Amino acid sequence: MIILYYTLLCFLFFVMFFCLLFLLSPLFSLIPFVTVRKKVLNEIIRELNLDEKSILYDLGCGDGRVLFAALKTNPDISCVGVEISPFPFLLANTKKIFFNFKNIQILYGNFFKKDISPASHVFLYLFPKSLDELLPKLEKELRVGSRVISCDFEFSKRKPDKILELQASTGQRNKRLYIYDF
Ligand SMILES: C[S@@+](CC[C@H](N)C(=O)[O-])C[C@H]1O[C@@H](n2cnc3c(N)ncnc32)[C@H](O)[C@@H]1O
Repeated sequence: MIILYYTLLCFLFFVMFFCLLFLLSPLFSLIPFVTVRKKVLNEIIRELNLDEKSILYDLGCGDGRVLFAALKTNPDISCVGVEISPFPFLLANTKKIFFNFKNIQILYGNFFKKDISPASHVFLYLFPKSLDELLPKLEKELRVGSRVISCDFEFSKRKPDKILELQASTGQRNKRLYIYDF
C-alpha cells in the first residue's frame, strides 16, 4: 500500500514538474514550442534528401520529431538537436531513451553558441527575426553543399533554391518549405 502511495506521489510530482516547465517556457525563448504537423514530416524528410553519411541538425528541435522521423527512415544518419527550453528538451530526451533511438544527441542550450560545422543538413522552424540572425552563422560554419530547410519562414537576405507548397487547410500551420543549398 505504501509503495503504491509513493509511486502515485512520484508520478504526480513528475506531472507537476513537467507542467511547471511547460508554463515557464516563455522565460527561455520568445519562439514558442510549436511543432511541425505530423502530416508534413514525410515531405520534410524527402526534401532533406539524406544519405547514410548525412548529419542532420534541428536548431530549436522542440520534441525532436523531425530528427526522430528522419532516423526512422534513415537509421544510419547522425542527428543533433539543440533546444533552449527545458520542457521540449526533456521531452525529446525522454523520447530518445524510451524509444531507444541511437545516433542522436539532444543538446541543451542556445544554438547561436553551438558549433554547427559538422552538419550536412539543417532543419529550422523559427521566426523570421531569428532566421536572419542565424544566417551569418550558417554561411560561416556550414560546408558548401549543405542543405537547409526552413518551414513557413524564409531568410530575408537569401533567395531559396526551391519553395515547396505543403498541403494545408486554411488556418493550418506549415504551408511551405523554403529549401536552400549553401
Ligand atoms: C517552433 S518550435 C520548432 C520545434 C521543432 N523544430 C519542430 O519543428 O517541431 C521552435 C523551438 O526553438 C526553440 N528555440 C528558440 N530559440 C532558440 C535558441 N536560441 N536556441 C535553442 N533553441 C531555441 C524554442 O524553445 C522552440 O522549442
